Amino acid sequence: MIYCKYSLKKFNTFNININAIKIVKIKDLEKLCNLWKKYKKQNFPCLILGDGSNILFLKNFYGLVIINRIKGIYISESKKYWNLHVNSGEKWHDLVKFTIKHKIYGLENLALIPGRVGSAPIQNIGAYGSSIQNFCEYVDIINPINKKIKRINKKKCNFKYRDSIFKYNYKNYVIISIGLSLSKKWIPNLKYNDLKKLKYNITPQKIFNYICNIRKKKIPYPKIYGNAGSFFKNPIISPILGTKLLKIFSDMPFSLEKKKFKLSAGWLIDKCKFKGYISSNGAMVYSKQSLILLNRFNNSSGIDILELAIKIYYKVGKKFGVWLEPEVKIIDSHGEVNPYIFFKKNNI
Ligand code: FAD
Ligand code: EPU
Repeated sequence: MIYCKYSLKKFNTFNININAIKIVKIKDLEKLCNLWKKYKKQNFPCLILGDGSNILFLKNFYGLVIINRIKGIYISESKKYWNLHVNSGEKWHDLVKFTIKHKIYGLENLALIPGRVGSAPIQNIGAYGSSIQNFCEYVDIINPINKKIKRINKKKCNFKYRDSIFKYNYKNYVIISIGLSLSKKWIPNLKYNDLKKLKYNITPQKIFNYICNIRKKKIPYPKIYGNAGSFFKNPIISPILGTKLLKIFSDMPFSLEKKKFKLSAGWLIDKCKFKGYISSNGAMVYSKQSLILLNRFNNSSGIDILELAIKIYYKVGKKFGVWLEPEVKIIDSHGEVNPYIFFKKNNI
């Protein structure tokens, strides 16, 4: 009998206290591949994590968890661009700070997004009117079993809102580095509502500071209240359903994306009166931002959080005909699962 004896509590921002058979922090690629191969040979699942800021563990993980700390930032330049090759274990926010310190601008709108560089292209991280797809030129991946490396160029990454090819293909690969290209001619990105007032004497540092401040005010610090940022994605719906909903809910916020309606999941959840709701198990809808679910007392299980998410899913679905998709990846004992199927199967 092999026991899951090592706690993953410090390696996931929901602060869920579950265990894995083995947890290893890795700083070099060769070691990563060898360990991965060894565990796969024995039929154990392998999971690579950055900071665990976009996952929800439901059960003990029956395998190997690799905490990626493979670092390195390499700069080159052309006439018009700074080109950065960044290894996947770098902290995303440290990279943003590094670029600003070196007078390389463009990433400031993406300041303070948690997690590591290797996870950033998977859901095409975004905030405050920007996303990594605006800068990403390529993503390098490795098959840890045969150590073959592939470069996936920007076009093939298929970046969309909170989406990319890496959510569907290359599941048995590990992202090892990414390439970013940042223009030497800086143009401030002030599209997002909250930033419009900043237009005078604007500098990248001012945007960076402003964004860090609003994020600190709006988003709870996971070490205090476990969370993974937005639990659901903002839904993108057909023009027919969007127009129909606007007739009933004239105050519904939305934006148009290629003729489709992008709604605010936070608003939909508010309208179902969930804001501030706390379940008997301590799973909570954050009172300042309904899209964020909290492990309020840091003693809930992943299933407690998922139960609340499913409750929200059905209430919002029934009221608006809009079925929310989780942004957070749900992991059970052997890897990622579809939360709705998991819920039904386990009769929760
Ligand atoms: P993890 O949670 O460790 O992993 C996520 C998934 O990626 C897992 O399936 C994992 O197996 C896989 N993975 C990780 N590394 C690799 C690799 N090297 N190769 C292959 N697969 C890998 N996101 C936004 O887009 N915008 C925001 O504004 C934002 N705000 C947030 C605020 C808070 C407080 C929190 C907690 C999260 C927020 N997020 C936001 C979500 C999160 O920051 C991002 O999804 C981030 O990219 C996750 O990085 P991570 O390293 O923690 O990934
Ligand atoms: N809203 C409500 N009630 C709420 C929350 C939001 O009505 O409780 C409405 C308001 O109309 C508000 C609008 O939604 O003006 C937008 O809210 P906010 O600016 O807080 O952004 P969001 O759409 O809720 C998204 C991202 C965040 C990102 C911010 C800033 C998604 C799923 N979430 O949130 O990303 O930081 O915009 O750009 O797209 C994450 O992905 O984990 C994340 C935190």
